Amino acid sequence: MNKILVTGGAGYIGSHTVVELQQNGFEVIIVDNLSNSLIEVLDNIHSITGIKPHFEQFDLADPRLTADFFTRHTDLSGIIHFAAYKAVGESMEKPLGYYRNNLMSLINLLEGMKLHGINNIVFSSSCTVYGQPDELPVTENAPFKPAFSAYGNTKQMCEDILKFTVNAHPVKAIALRYFNPIGAHPSALIGELPLGIPNNLVPYITQTGIGKREYLRVFGNDYPTPDGTAIRDYIHVVDLAQAHVVALRRLIEGRSKTNPEVFNLGTGNGFSVMQIIEAFERVSGLKLNYRIVDRRAGDIEQVWADTGYANNELGWKAERTLDEMMASAWRWEMALEGR
Ligand code: UFG
Repeated sequence: MNKILVTGGAGYIGSHTVVELQQNGFEVIIVDNLSNSLIEVLDNIHSITGIKPHFEQFDLADPRLTADFFTRHTDLSGIIHFAAYKAVGESMEKPLGYYRNNLMSLINLLEGMKLHGINNIVFSSSCTVYGQPDELPVTENAPFKPAFSAYGNTKQMCEDILKFTVNAHPVKAIALRYFNPIGAHPSALIGELPLGIPNNLVPYITQTGIGKREYLRVFGNDYPTPDGTAIRDYIHVVDLAQAHVVALRRLIEGRSKTNPEVFNLGTGNGFSVMQIIEAFERVSGLKLNYRIVDRRAGDIEQVWADTGYANNELGWKAERTLDEMMASAWRWEMALEGR
């Protein structure tokens, strides 16, 4: 059986990917420092798949601990690297923490791969590397724009680290550039667990719907979009998780066409903030309390993916609709409330 290290496997996208990997016959080892996730997630993965993943809690930014991990696990077929800090605003207040964590953990993993002959890595990247693209939909060939945040810059730098490392060592990499992942597992056993006040739109909406927040602030309605609110390409987290299994198999089976290979993971559809609110109201039967406020600093106005390359090359396509995304996010919020 293929043994896979999933870093950040207790997190939002990581936990959904662990489920898909286990359901596809992979043996999973999770490394997570639980800085932004809860240990209970492992039990919930177990409840879904019937398999409890092997788990180790340590910080991958620590070179000694990471090197030690690799001496104990020499038979890995590949790595999916999610573990990273991801809050855009926080990265502007603590840039060094972001660079240290996000860059060092990748470097330490690559060192271990080099030393132990582990050749395959799937890296979590982001559409944030494109900034506000000149052309929409944005393809994988669009250039990196100057980063809007230290967080975005770490994703650009990590992709650069991969690019030069695969040239020098027998490592094969796929970078997956996520658009906006939302929603939760249909079991409502795993989902997004924002600590404190959510930064992202959908958890803020569902928390407002359940009564934890008074109202949603809609950041700007004067963008040059049909209804004036900003547009993103929202993708169901389960579709996103399934793409990781496909990408990993492609690496293991040696079918990559370039190295590193880069794929956009989105649906190819852009939705405005108002359309997301309307979808929430449709699936929940509630009226959402919201107010239009000023634009949020650092936000781009609109982005959605050209998914042609991922669809054709990976043979993968995001299938779940916006209403399914919002309904699953709402079921998850209600399940959390009931716990
Ligand atoms: N928004 C609101 N009110 C809120 C929160 C968000 O109106 O309370 C709006 C934002 O202004 C934006 C849209 O909803 O127009 C989506 O915002 P999110 O914060 O959910 O997502 P972003 O597109 O800003 O950021 C996401 C991830 C980042 C990632 C980035 C680009 O959070 O990690 O996409 O890849 F880097």
